[in-house]
Amino acid sequence: MENTVVVGAQFGDEGKAKITDLLASKADFITRFQGGSNAGHTVVADGKKYAFHLVPSGILYENKICMIGAGCVIKPDDLKKEIEDIISQGITREHFEKCLKISPLAHITMKYHTDIDGYSESSLGNNKIGTTKKGIGPTYTDKYKRMGIRVEDLFNKETLSKKIDVILPTKNKELEFIYNLKPYTKEEILSECEEYRKILAPYVDFNWENNLLETSKNKTILFEGAQGVMLDIDYGTYPYVTSSSPTAGGAGIGASMGPKAIKKAVGVFKAYMTRVGEGAFITELTDEEGEKLRSIGGEFGVTTGRPRRCGWFDAVSAKYAVLVGGLTEIALTKLDVLDSFEEIKLAKAYKNKKTGEIINYYPTDVYSHKDYEPIYETHKGWMTDITNCKTYNDLPENAKLYLKRLEEILGIKISIISVGPDREQTIFI
Ligand code: GDP
Ligand code: IMO
Ligand code: MG
Repeated sequence: MENTVVVGAQFGDEGKAKITDLLASKADFITRFQGGSNAGHTVVADGKKYAFHLVPSGILYENKICMIGAGCVIKPDDLKKEIEDIISQGITREHFEKCLKISPLAHITMKYHTDIDGYSESSLGNNKIGTTKKGIGPTYTDKYKRMGIRVEDLFNKETLSKKIDVILPTKNKELEFIYNLKPYTKEEILSECEEYRKILAPYVDFNWENNLLETSKNKTILFEGAQGVMLDIDYGTYPYVTSSSPTAGGAGIGASMGPKAIKKAVGVFKAYMTRVGEGAFITELTDEEGEKLRSIGGEFGVTTGRPRRCGWFDAVSAKYAVLVGGLTEIALTKLDVLDSFEEIKLAKAYKNKKTGEIINYYPTDVYSHKDYEPIYETHKGWMTDITNCKTYNDLPENAKLYLKRLEEILGIKISIISVGPDREQTIFI
């Protein structure tokens, strides 16, 4: 396999982890390049279901290095819980100590970041973003304000003390006077950092520059994205987005590699669409059909348990995701969820309800989205169970027609079709 990046191409939860896990079998090095424990990634292997948040989805294999890259943000106590949960399912601690690596450059989510995330969401009222409240936005804000604490700082007492002296007076003013929250003493922050240092110590790769040099010479690299293009900080439905860059463009930066390291970008699309949190969703279904997608698709968040909003496949935003996400091929997931729909719709354009104007490009001003309604084309369903299909030819004719139409509109090929959560329920083309 060539070096490949797996990119969510919608609003997250497309089934990226299943695709990452499958492709990881052909890679030596799997690196998560952005986000934090806001992600909820499900892998079903040998009948067991695993939930990952920050641990790369390649961790189930022996002898593969799984890196949490420089572009990620880490809440060490959440990571500890995640590792313990996976260990309780039979993966050994020794395996983690051998295979899991953490970049010293990744940023730490402190308790004050989660305090602020919770508070700013509740104070925004109806305008809230609907974040996962994992402190992601406030951690990235501090990173770009150059007031962040990085993993490596936890291991250098002098640097850490100096940094806290710089950060804490401002942070406490912010906590007290902007958010009406409890300030922290230096001792409290030092003891939080000490707890985090102990949690991360077995995994931090201080020799990452040499290791990366060796890896990039003769190993196959799989870049794992979280979230999705439509949640990207620049290209998503701003401000209803996450605070990082889940696109193929973000992969090199977050994984400490240049753009030439990436040869293929697999965009993971669900055969319909879902979204958790607030923000525009032009093809959202708030009727029985949406409810049917949610119940058959099991559309409830892995991280927050929230019901996911459901709707038809939006080919307008999908074309946009191919363009700005840098996608070169498609992995289409959850095709089986459509098995019992007599009609399957996809939005090929939008109509402005006020002016009647029809557009087939994605309007980036999300505040205008309330003015648009989707123009659908309708495809005949296949009304057959496809969960046991092993090859493209096993698929019913109507499913093949739907897939062909998607390829035609998006202008890139479908290389993987997923017909169930299990590793085996996958068709490679
Ligand atoms: P991610 O965040 O993109 O990795 O996706 P999530 O794990 O949050 O959500 C995808 C859900 O769909 C998980 O429960 C997967 O086990 C499940 N899933 C993945 N692919 C398929 C598929 O082809 N069919 C069905 N029915 N479920 C799938
Ligand atoms: P995976 O990797 C779906 C959404 C939140 C909210 C917005 C900002 O499982 O696809 P944040 O906590 O990141 O500041 O929240 O982004 N969001 C996700 N939605 N899947 C995810 O991850 C998400 N991570 C964040 O619901 O709307
Ligand atoms: Mg998810």
